[in-house]
Amino acid sequence: MSKEIIVNELNDEGFISEKVKEIKDVVGDGTAINALSGGVDSSAVTMLGHRAIGKSLKTVFVENGLMREGESDQVAGFFRKLGVKVEIIDARKEFFTALKGITDPEEKREAITQTFYRNVFGRIVKESGAKYLLQGTILTDVDETIAGIKRQHNVFEQIGIDPQEAFGYHIIEPLIQLRKDGVRKIGKALGLPANLFERIPFPGPALSARVIGEVTPERIETVRKATVVVERMLKSTGAFQYMAILHKDRVTGMRDGKRDFGQQIEVRCWNSVDARTATPTRISFEILERLALEISREVPGIVSVTYNIATKPPSTIEAV
Ligand code: XMP
Repeated sequence: MSKEIIVNELNDEGFISEKVKEIKDVVGDGTAINALSGGVDSSAVTMLGHRAIGKSLKTVFVENGLMREGESDQVAGFFRKLGVKVEIIDARKEFFTALKGITDPEEKREAITQTFYRNVFGRIVKESGAKYLLQGTILTDVDETIAGIKRQHNVFEQIGIDPQEAFGYHIIEPLIQLRKDGVRKIGKALGLPANLFERIPFPGPALSARVIGEVTPERIETVRKATVVVERMLKSTGAFQYMAILHKDRVTGMRDGKRDFGQQIEVRCWNSVDARTATPTRISFEILERLALEISREVPGIVSVTYNIATKPPSTIEAV
């Protein structure tokens, strides 16, 4: 088990030189694949890998159909400016097929993991001849998986799964000793622009972690639209993370004086330092009212909007 480096003891330049050397040594003359999602962790790892092995690193953005509005083009654009070429891989069909009919949270996570690692990366790795996948797993992902709280999509060796055996490639995890605050420090030192390293965390299973019940293209589109409103309206809170969650049951509502069954969106906005514990942000009622108004106006089919006031624990940050 890797030893934690706490942010106050993290020497950013020293850490970067050490990890660049480690990646160079491991990959040697070979090539590596790197999955970029645009989150802080994968962005920092992309820059580390780029610094270590340059063109021997192939960076891909997997368009799984579960990302936020315009995310793939936006992220590829950010990195193009930093001199890193990003190939967008369209895997929407594979993910929705794998998720069809699944409602259990852990089964959903497992379907995403298998689709990412076995199907999509397995194929890319085979086609490119790469032997390594470079990825931004952090200590919190490992802790929560080991503790049995949540099967984080990117944790394998620590729970006894050998990626070489299971998927046919090795996984390199240079950020495994850090938590979110440490990754932000490294991201900054690597020259990532503020709009990248200050982005709020977004989970590997993407919007499917925010859909209770079956994940379909239509239900993802609903939560995606609500996410646009929530991110726009809650950015100024400076909170650790904020999100929209789509509930499962239809609820009774009314429109134009008639009953209108619709769906419910739950808004969560978290204060947290490292995602291990979190408390809901004290948002003014005025903002909450505007959130409800804009979500029910801009997201078709939504008749109810709630704000989560539970802490983590017993809640977790994501719903799934
Ligand atoms: P939870 O929901 O476990 O989330 O309280 C803790 C933090 O981790 C993010 N998260 C994930 N990140 N893969 C990731 O890379 C995952 O499977 C995953 N699940 C949750 C979540 O957004 C929060 O910041």
